[in-house]
Amino acid sequence: MKKRIFSGMRPTGALHIGHLSVLQNWIALQSEYECYFGIVDWHALTTGYADRLDMRGLIRDIALDWLSVGLDPEQCAILIQSNVLEHAELHLLFSMITPISWLERVPTYKDQIQQLGKEEGKDLSTYGFLGYPALQAADILVYKADAVPVGEDQLPHIELCREIARRFNFMYEAVFPEPRAIIGKIAMLPGVDGRKMSKSYHNAISLTATSKEIKTRVQQMITDPARVRKDDPGHPEVCVVHRFQQIYQPERIAEIEADCREGKIGCVACKAQLADILEKLLSPFRERRLHWEEPGRVEKVLREGNERARETALATMKDVRQAMGL
Ligand code: TRP
Ligand code: SF4
Repeated sequence: MKKRIFSGMRPTGALHIGHLSVLQNWIALQSEYECYFGIVDWHALTTGYADRLDMRGLIRDIALDWLSVGLDPEQCAILIQSNVLEHAELHLLFSMITPISWLERVPTYKDQIQQLGKEEGKDLSTYGFLGYPALQAADILVYKADAVPVGEDQLPHIELCREIARRFNFMYEAVFPEPRAIIGKIAMLPGVDGRKMSKSYHNAISLTATSKEIKTRVQQMITDPARVRKDDPGHPEVCVVHRFQQIYQPERIAEIEADCREGKIGCVACKAQLADILEKLLSPFRERRLHWEEPGRVEKVLREGNERARETALATMKDVRQAMGL
């Protein structure tokens, strides 16, 4: 029997190339594991509850992004969290056994309240936001997932999920596995301005970028300010283009660095190379997107994904109810 995987993303708008390494990690696992990938719209509401989000549009967008990059609905169930109500039931039951102190000591919890409060004027001193990691634990455990492929930033949440599973198994019956995180190699991409790549900073290259948008974004990348003329010696370590070259042309990076230091390659040429590589990376996604954009296709994938997910989740909830004497 195949081991199971669950992972999810919040539908918060177009994905960018910074998300690609996590998605490629998912894709690499989809033949080996029984996979469930969730569009976690309730999680998006924990921070966006006052934003009047166009949730249906956001869900369709992220599903299209996933399919365009290469998630295969024949191999994995793509589901919408709010369409599989067992997530909510399990979250409620976990809320009974999860000490508040466990939630409060998740490292990002207080930071996020502070940061999103200051930057975006959001009031996150809510019940739902405190429970974010308990809901995440329910997402994972409602499928009895053995493993969770995520970025490193999610490790504290996975640890909490394991603790909740352990506590449940100890208090009632051994129903749940203790899922392990699968951390892929994640390329930490900067935005074109050198800050963290983020949609809200307008410094991201989206997965759906057109050839023209790719060129514009690469133009905007900050290079070594000491290079005024093309043969001035450069310092690749301060250059955003160089950080991208490291990730996308690792086999040529020594040569690029040497040429830059010796003033043998100009920034214009260096950027043109990078734009070419990004174009090759993203153009297959555009083609696949055209297929999935046909009316009804995404809807069908989600309908079938929800159904497969529900079946598994329902079986788990039978065990849970029985273990708790419900
Ligand atoms: N918290 C995750 C993130 O921000 C999203 C998420 C919700 C998730 N539920 C999950 C990830 C379950 C993995 C498993 O990226
Ligand atoms: Fe950056 Fe390339 Fe210019 Fe060097 S040549 S500063 S690596 S863009």
